[in-house]
Amino acid sequence: MVLRIVVKEMVKGDLPFLLDLWHMREVMRYADEFPRLRGWSKSDDIEYAWGRYQVMRGELGKEYTQLVLRLDDDTPIGESFFACLEEGYTFGKWSKPEGIVSVMGDIKLLPQYWGQGLGTAGMRQVVRYVFTATICELFVVPPNRKNPAAYRVYEKAGFKLFTGMRSWRNHQIMEMSKEMYRESYGD
Ligand SMILES: CC(C)(COP(=O)(O)OP(=O)(O)OC[C@H]1O[C@@H](n2cnc3c(N)ncnc32)[C@H](O)[C@@H]1OP(=O)(O)O)[C@@H](O)C(=O)NCCC(=O)NCCS
Repeated sequence: MVLRIVVKEMVKGDLPFLLDLWHMREVMRYADEFPRLRGWSKSDDIEYAWGRYQVMRGELGKEYTQLVLRLDDDTPIGESFFACLEEGYTFGKWSKPEGIVSVMGDIKLLPQYWGQGLGTAGMRQVVRYVFTATICELFVVPPNRKNPAAYRVYEKAGFKLFTGMRSWRNHQIMEMSKEMYRESYGD
């Protein structure tokens, strides 16, 4: 059976699921929080985490979004977070192109759902979301060099490796412009 993935912005009721996911060592092994710490994801206090998210979302707009990935039947299976990069932002030798609205994001799934194509399907939904619900013109992801599954998922979703640096803090950058999105997704 082919499982379908649906991507939606988090609601308060998703926080117990998210906080549990972020406490799993195998999920978090290669995950650093880029471009900046959320500031609320390590909390066990749901009221605090929800309040902080609302404040950040209010200040930063739709280009700062916590998504939850669900199966058709609404079961949450993972998450994706993206945030806007400031002018002058650098990641090792990579720098945000001037004047181009750029977001950095990632994806994480519960381990029991790995290896079935769901990461790729989920990332494709996240890409669609980013380029349709926000004003983003460039979407970048920072895979850890020791995490081949992440590279593969991002590659299959249409991202291209930035070859201008070896790595920074063990991470590389993969990029997708809105033009690349339009060409490969046909939207
Ligand atoms: C990264 C992650 C989302 C991938 O999800 P997934 O559902 O397993 O992804 P898919 O099944 O769609 O594809 C995985 C691909 O990686 C490949 N892969 C997995 N492990 C690999 C390894 N050790 N070496 C090489 N390729 C590997 C698979 O073969 C597959 O590619 P293929 O379809 O060409 O065979 C999932 O592993 C995860 O949540 N990891 C923990 C969080 C994380 O590290 N997120 C990444 C950024 S923070």
